[in-house]
Amino acid sequence: MDTTPARAQTILRESASARAFERARRVIPGGSMRTSTWFAPHPPYARRGSGCEIEDLDGNRILDCANNFFSLIHGHAFPPVVQAIREVAGEGTAFGLPTQYETELAEAIRRRSPLCEQTRFCNSGTEAVMNAIKGARGLTGRARIAKFEGAYHGSYDYAEVSLGSDPTNWNDPKGDPASVPYAHGTPPSVLRDTVVLPYADPDRLAQILQREGPSLAAILLDPLASRIGCVPLGADSIAVIRDACQRHGILLICDEVIVFRLSWSGAHPLFELEPDFVTLGKVIGGGLPVGAVAGPASSMAVFDHTKGKARVSVGGTFSANPLSMASGLAAMAAYDQAAVARLNQLGDRLRARANKALEDAGRPARMTGMGSLFRLHLTDKPIRDYRSAHPDEAARQALALIQGDMLERGFLITPNCSGALSTPMSDSHVDSLAAALVASVSRAWDSAPWAN
Ligand SMILES: Cc1ncc(COP(=O)(O)O)c(C=O)c1O
Repeated sequence: MDTTPARAQTILRESASARAFERARRVIPGGSMRTSTWFAPHPPYARRGSGCEIEDLDGNRILDCANNFFSLIHGHAFPPVVQAIREVAGEGTAFGLPTQYETELAEAIRRRSPLCEQTRFCNSGTEAVMNAIKGARGLTGRARIAKFEGAYHGSYDYAEVSLGSDPTNWNDPKGDPASVPYAHGTPPSVLRDTVVLPYADPDRLAQILQREGPSLAAILLDPLASRIGCVPLGADSIAVIRDACQRHGILLICDEVIVFRLSWSGAHPLFELEPDFVTLGKVIGGGLPVGAVAGPASSMAVFDHTKGKARVSVGGTFSANPLSMASGLAAMAAYDQAAVARLNQLGDRLRARANKALEDAGRPARMTGMGSLFRLHLTDKPIRDYRSAHPDEAARQALALIQGDMLERGFLITPNCSGALSTPMSDSHVDSLAAALVASVSRAWDSAPWAN
């Protein structure tokens, strides 16, 4: 069903973006690789970005709250990043040799996050998670991993299991979460080797880890997973994980591809986690492609190739390319303690304003999140885990309506109505975002109320 508001459809169909889409779909299946920002009948095409705004091909200005899937901590064309890229590009963009930019970015990560004594770079968060899983397997000699139901960690087969499970296949609440394939054709062995964990049921979590622990190489964990609901993992579950890792020799992978931004030192210190591997991406590349596995030198030694073949070899033609490294350095230098604190305050302001206005208006909707990350839910019931965050069909359609309506109002958010703030934003940006979200929710509710 096409849920784009009628007025937006007219604007979009007659636009330069519409023509760009018609041209693109002849040579690209679906018209674009940017599938996660699909808007029916077609997405707006970006012409340029500056600070927290995007201008599309038709000259519309959009407040960018998606920030290329939360990777642009300073918004678009951040001058120090642009300058760094210009300087480095003039000296060569990729070498079959190391550059010092790689070392400098690894040093910058260690300064912020002392647990991350060493870092290995790659080109995406997907690769980072894959490399960390392989590292854990290499260190433990075990094949299986565990991950939380609904969590997104990129598109490595094992990390994708149960990413999109639903009430028809996720198993009875009284049973353990099922290992559900995400991609058609997922090998059954991948499902057998991926144990799925409940996010907000520490007792069941303990039972599963007690049973499966001896065969697990790693637990893969994002402590504020957006797809789970953008709610923090509880202290009880963290205690269970810590105990199981110690008891069974399971390694812990903390996926901070998104949540590294939550504090100057990343997410693991906030949640009192001591992971064996931390996976990074997005903001540490300053807007260019990047991924990284970091951690204590003792676990990172698994990737060391200098004493014969590494236990786990990870390569990549463009890994640690000087452009991504220099751009990341410039972005991280400007994301200092003061910038982190200010951005987190903006996030608190957004959630407080939006939630108060939704409550005052009597809309069954609420916003979750932490720091500069937010997500809208179309319910006023507690959001604890993937299942309580999972929208039914009516809510899903309403979310699509809201995303389209927000675009019409000049705000870009993701399809599940989540987003991330960027440092060029001010109180007034955040206040207008909160007001627009509340107006969009009201409009959707008035046109087709969803069950609460
Ligand atoms: C928590 C998490 N891990 C891994 C990834 C994969 O990163 P990338 O898109 O750079 O492959 C993502 C992407 O959104 C993510 O949110």
